[in-house]
Amino acid sequence: MTADLEQLKQSLGNHWKGFSDFFQQALLSDIVLLNTINRYLLQHAGKQLRPLLTLLTAEMLGKITESTYLAASAVEMVHTCSLLHDDVIDNADERRGAPSVKAMWRSNASVLTGDYWLSRIFHMVITHQEYRLLPWFSGCLVNLSEGELLQLEKALHLSATEAGYFTIIGKKTASLLAVSMASGAITADAPAETVQQLYDAGYQMGLAFQIRDDILDYHKTNMLGKPTGNDLREQKLTLPLLHALAQADEPTRAKVLKWVKSVAKSKRHYTKIISFVKAHHGMEYAHTVLQQHVDKAKEILASFPENEGRNKLMGLVDFLAVRKK
Ligand code: IPE
Ligand code: IPE
Ligand code: MG
Ligand code: MG
Repeated sequence: MTADLEQLKQSLGNHWKGFSDFFQQALLSDIVLLNTINRYLLQHAGKQLRPLLTLLTAEMLGKITESTYLAASAVEMVHTCSLLHDDVIDNADERRGAPSVKAMWRSNASVLTGDYWLSRIFHMVITHQEYRLLPWFSGCLVNLSEGELLQLEKALHLSATEAGYFTIIGKKTASLLAVSMASGAITADAPAETVQQLYDAGYQMGLAFQIRDDILDYHKTNMLGKPTGNDLREQKLTLPLLHALAQADEPTRAKVLKWVKSVAKSKRHYTKIISFVKAHHGMEYAHTVLQQHVDKAKEILASFPENEGRNKLMGLVDFLAVRKK
C-alpha cells in the first residue's frame, strides 16, 4: 500500500523531532543574510523524503541514534545544496510552490548558500567525529557533480541515449537516495554487507524517483510546485522522449531533435514533441521501467526480516511510483 509521507513522519514521533531540531541547529550562523535565506528555506521545506529514508532504514535495523539524526540532516543538506545550485543551472524561478532562492536573492546568493550548506555537512560530521559517513558522502558529491556535468554535455550536443540517461540519473539522483539509506544503516551499526544492500535498494528507489519526476515534467500542470516543460527547455532528453526517438526512423529523429532545439521559442514545436512522445507510448514505457526499479528495491527489502520499519519502507517505495508531488 502507498504510504502517506506525513503519517510516516508522525509514526517516528520523537525521532522525527530529533532530526528536525538537529537539522535546524546545524544551520545557525552569525551572517544575517544567510539566516534570512535559511529561514526562508526552512519555511518552504520540501517532502524531506531523504531523511525519512535514513530514519526508516535505521528503524528497520532496530536502532535510531543521535548519529542517525546527523546522517538524516546531512542528506537533506546535500539535497538542499543541490537544489540551490540546480535552480541557477536550470534558470528556474519557482521551487516548492514559491519563488526559488535564485529568484528572491539572485544567483550569487543561491550558489553561495548552497556552498555554505555543503561546508556545514563536513563541519558537522567532523565535529561529531562520525567519520564512518565521510566516504559515502564524499563519493556521493562526486557523483552529483559528474551527473550534472554529463547532463550538460549531453544537452549541448542533444546526444543522450537511454544508457546515458541512466548514468545521469544514477549519479545526480539515485546516488543520494542510496546514501540516505546506507547512512541510516551505518548509524544503526549494521555490518558492511547490509550497508551495501541498503545502498543498492536506495539506488533503485532513486532511479524510480527521478523517472517519475521526468514523467511529471511532461504534464501540462502539476502539483510539484516547480515549472513543467523545463527539461525540454533545457534540452534534456528524458526517458519518455528517448524511447520515442529510439522507435523513429532517422529523418523523423532529425526532425524531432530540431523541434527540441527551438522549443524555448516555439510553443508549436513543444506541442508537436508531446504528440510524438504520446504516439510512441513514451510515458507508458517510462512508467513500466520505473515499476521495474520499484520491484527491484522491494526485492532487496524483502530479504530483511519483516517488521514495522520494513513495512513502512515498502509503502514508501510504492509511493515513488505514483507520487504527484
Ligand atoms: C527534487 O527532489 C529534485 C529531484 C531529484 C528530482 P524532491 O522532489 O525530493 O524535492 P523536495 O525537497 O521535496 O522539494
Ligand atoms: C534536481 O535535478 C537536482 C539534482 C538531482 C541534483 P532536476 O533539475 O532534474 O530537478 P528539478 O525538476 O529542477 O527539481
Ligand atoms: Mg537540473
Ligand atoms: Mg532543475
